[in-house]
Amino acid sequence: MSRPIRCVLVTGGAGFIGGNLVRLLLRERPDWTIINLDKLTYAGNLESLVDLKDNPRHQFVRGDIANAELVEHLISTHKVDAILNLAAESHVDRSILGPGIFVETNVAGTQVLLDEARRANVRFVQVSTDEVYGSLGPTGKFTELSPLEPSSPYSASKTAADLIALSYRRTFGLDVVVTRCSNNYGPYQFPEKLIPLMIANALESKKLPVYGDGQQIRDWIHVDDHARGILAALEKGKSGEVYNFGSENEHPNLFIVRELLKLLSRGDDLIEYVKDRPGHDRRYAIDASKARRELEWAPQVPFAQGLSRTVDWYRENRGWWERVRSGVYRNYYAQNYGARG
Ligand code: NAD
Ligand code: TYD
Repeated sequence: MSRPIRCVLVTGGAGFIGGNLVRLLLRERPDWTIINLDKLTYAGNLESLVDLKDNPRHQFVRGDIANAELVEHLISTHKVDAILNLAAESHVDRSILGPGIFVETNVAGTQVLLDEARRANVRFVQVSTDEVYGSLGPTGKFTELSPLEPSSPYSASKTAADLIALSYRRTFGLDVVVTRCSNNYGPYQFPEKLIPLMIANALESKKLPVYGDGQQIRDWIHVDDHARGILAALEKGKSGEVYNFGSENEHPNLFIVRELLKLLSRGDDLIEYVKDRPGHDRRYAIDASKARRELEWAPQVPFAQGLSRTVDWYRENRGWWERVRSGVYRNYYAQNYGARG
């Protein structure tokens, strides 16, 4: 992309990947300003951003990506040069319990953002997921040309958003890049996803619920490697292109759970096999050679090191996830910002 970047609108920046991405951008691009738009759903947590509270290059705005007026206002007042869309409902199990909000946020919300990107003529990076490809058999990997066969309401809503974003490129000439990454792990992940849930449960001596036979395979990538990929897609991605990110760490869930138990010096007796997830994808594996080649991107965090650092983070930041689990973190916004309004 040719336009120089000074200000980026990141959506969903109070969530897991968004928060880690905002930190990376502030660190790696010292002349950029970040506008962080997040609705603060159950998954958004301002406590994950406390260290950025007084950073003049970071401005947090509580709001919905589906609010066109607000998005237009933010783009024009801050002279936003690009949008990185991470805001989403992101948990497969929740999408099975209630699909409606997934369509509202992931599909309709993204479409509103795309309209505003089009109006302002700014680059749009849609952070999609490898789950758009559906499930793999025992061999092979997803490439950017694999068929899109999402299984869950979550992945179907992400597929819709991904394709609508690409349609804005073809139909309106909007500068759009799409990224599709595999399962992330790292600090500040909401303890409903596999790795943080298992760590938190083990630290509280609760059972570790493994779905079905535990032999489903995910291709794990450290969140910092994904964030570096999003930055590379923003700066080097070709308009209208899709880039897969993955780190070649394919492991069955049961292997991950056992590794976590070892790192926490707990026994396998905490494992509890529970009923499988409906429509459960069996295996994901990513071919990220296009991103390696065209974006000069490569994952940097070795899995064993990343996993052990992640366990340490949850051990050392027990207050963060205990407040998430008890719901107390939701008072933080009112306490911190109520007094300032
Ligand atoms: P997350 O659930 O931790 O965070 C999502 C954030 O979006 C939250 O802060 C939430 O408050 C915010 N949000 C939700 N609805 C909103 C709305 N209408 N307006 C503004 N903000 C809203 O999710 P995550 O794991 O950080 O995922 C971020 C993005 O990356 C998602 O788009 C997800 O589909 C994608 N992704 C995630 C993974 C993964 O492994 N976690 C892998 C590939 C892609
Ligand atoms: P999850 O973290 O929800 O990510 P996704 O479904 O988007 O890949 O789940 C990762 C894998 O772990 C998935 O195969 C489902 C499984 N899983 C369990 O076995 N038990 C659990 O309690 C959870 C949350 C997930």
